[in-house]
This record gives sequence, C-alpha cells and structure tokens, in this order.
Amino acid sequence: MTDEQGADSIAEGLADGMGGVEETAAAATTQLEAAADLETVAALERRLLNRSGPLAEAKSRIGALDPAERAAAGRRLNEARARIESAVAAARERLGAADDNDDRYAAERLDLTERLPRSTALSRGRIHPVTAARYRLEDVFVGMGYSVEEGPEVESAWYNFEALNIPDWHPARGSFDTIFVNLGEPEEVMLRSHTSPVQIRTMENREPPIYVVAPGRTFRTDTADATHLPAFNQIEGLAIDRDINLGDLAGTINTFVGALFGRDVETRLRPSYFPFTEPSAEFDISRPDGSWLELGGCGMVHPNVLRNCGIDPEEWQGFAFGFGIDRLAVMRHEIDDIREFVNNDVRFLSQF
Ligand code: PHE
Repeated sequence: MTDEQGADSIAEGLADGMGGVEETAAAATTQLEAAADLETVAALERRLLNRSGPLAEAKSRIGALDPAERAAAGRRLNEARARIESAVAAARERLGAADDNDDRYAAERLDLTERLPRSTALSRGRIHPVTAARYRLEDVFVGMGYSVEEGPEVESAWYNFEALNIPDWHPARGSFDTIFVNLGEPEEVMLRSHTSPVQIRTMENREPPIYVVAPGRTFRTDTADATHLPAFNQIEGLAIDRDINLGDLAGTINTFVGALFGRDVETRLRPSYFPFTEPSAEFDISRPDGSWLELGGCGMVHPNVLRNCGIDPEEWQGFAFGFGIDRLAVMRHEIDDIREFVNNDVRFLSQF
C-alpha cells in the first residue's frame, strides 16, 4: 500500500461518520511513522488535515448528529486531529526539518561566514577622541607628579558654589548657567557646572601638600552649537603647598601645554575674575596662525576657599585651573563642529 492509498483509506474511515476516528488516527500515525521522506509527510498532512480533507468533512457532518452526541463526537474528532498533527510533527522531526519550507530555506540561505584574508587585521573599536584627550592629559599631569581624582556629577550647592566662595546672592552664580535637579530645597541639588567642586572634596579629604587633577563631565544649560555642548568635559588642577606663587601656575600651564602640543605652542595669562581664585586669570594658547585660543580659567586659590576646607591660608597657598577637554580635542584635531563628538557617527570617530 502506498502512502497515498493509506491516506485515502483513512479518509474512508472518517467518511463513515464519527465511528472509528481513533482507529483512523492510529492508522495515520502508523503511516507517518513509516514515511521515508518529507514529501510523503507533506502529502499525508495535506490530505488528512486541509480544509477539504476528511477530518474537515467529518466535522461538517457533526451538525447532522443527534445534539446529545455532538460534543462527544467533536471531542473525539479534535483528539484524532491532535494525534495526527503530533504524528506529522514527529515525522518531520525524525526526518530532520521543523516544517515544509525546507527547500525555500535552502534556496534563500545566506552565507554569513566571513573569511578575512590573512593580511587584514580585524578592525577593533577605538577610544573616543575626547576620552583620548582626557587620558593624554592625565598622563601628562601624572608625569608632573599629580594624582587623578574624581567627584560626583550631581552636586550640592555647597560644593558647586558656596565652598568655592560663591554665596547664593553672588552674581557669579548666574554666569554658570546651572542645570538644577528637582530634589530637596530649590536650587540645592544640581548637575555640576564645573569640576571645581572636586577641589573642595579633595581638600576636605587630604592633608596638604596636594597635587591633583580632576577630569570629568560637567553640565550647563547651553544649547548645542558648533562650539558648545550642554554636557562637556573639564579637567581641574589643584596644587596646594607652601610658598606657591603665580609664577608656579604660569610655569605649570606652560609645561603641560608644551607636553601636549609641543614646545612651539605658547601660553599667556590674561587678568580675569573667579570668586574662588585671587588673583584670577584666563589662559590662552597660541594657534599656528598667531592668534590666541582661550582654553580655561585659573588663579591662586582664594583664602576663603582654603578656610572652608579647614586649611590655614597663612601656612598653605595654592593655585587652581580648569579648562574644557572637548575644546582641546577640537583644537588638536582641527574639528569644525564640536557636536561631531556626540553624533556617534562611526565614519567620523574612526578617523582618530
Ligand atoms: N571653574 C572655572 C570654570 O568652569 C574654571 C576655573 C577653575 C577657574 C579653577 C579658576 C580656577 O569656568
């Protein structure tokens, strides 16, 4: 008996009515177990289970049965169907396929095996240019005897302002374009608007002499444009020792700029104002065309700041500086638009 004939005989059994559906399902199961290939299984399945097949036909006759018998007949029919379906699935599994799309799968198979010629190195990710600038700066300062500190990105008014000699009435607060966090008292918690709060945290926790740099993310309400990002990176420097003066600050800036850019880049200090340094200055570095680029702020640590951290200004002095790392990277790589750093375009980033 061929499989086709087998399917026909099952159909006949069912065509008699509901009688013998169990035997019919058993016969179908036997046939499916004996099927030698997937086509046979598919043909049996089609004949037995499709919408014009014997099971469907038997089902349509349920309506003609005595109402009292209908539920039981329906249940028996469904059980028979379930048995046949699981026999079909078992046959498929035995013959090595989950369904009858095998040919299609074979035809549409994508070969995702990739072979690289031996000469081609696997391309690896790389360090973001801003991160690279940060690491480079850290290395330069570590080479000058500084250690690296970090502070939290969410700060309190004490660390971001008050301890830095910026009381709440001070107009300088307004110049920091601070992003406040809706927590606690109004304007009490904020995203730090500079890395200077790490000066305070360091002086609270360490005995002088202190030589630290503190790189990290800072935030202001700036709208992103070619030269501004609302989230940017600064690096803070703090040196506290005996008999430190403005010449040490100027020399330190000159030394690290030289280490970073080479000896032919010059630096200059311009008088400025910050509440936490006195005197204060802005420092610039020379561009190849002779113009000056403003890099950051600096100055001698204000005696009030030292006192706020329990350091006696009669015994200890120091200088501090802070500047934007992103800006430095822009200048180093001659990038037109600082927003490139946060677009996450691999074509841009892979140039560095
Ligand atoms: N915190 C200042 C700023 O963000 C820079 C600065 C740091 C100035 C240290 C003086 C000393 O503008």
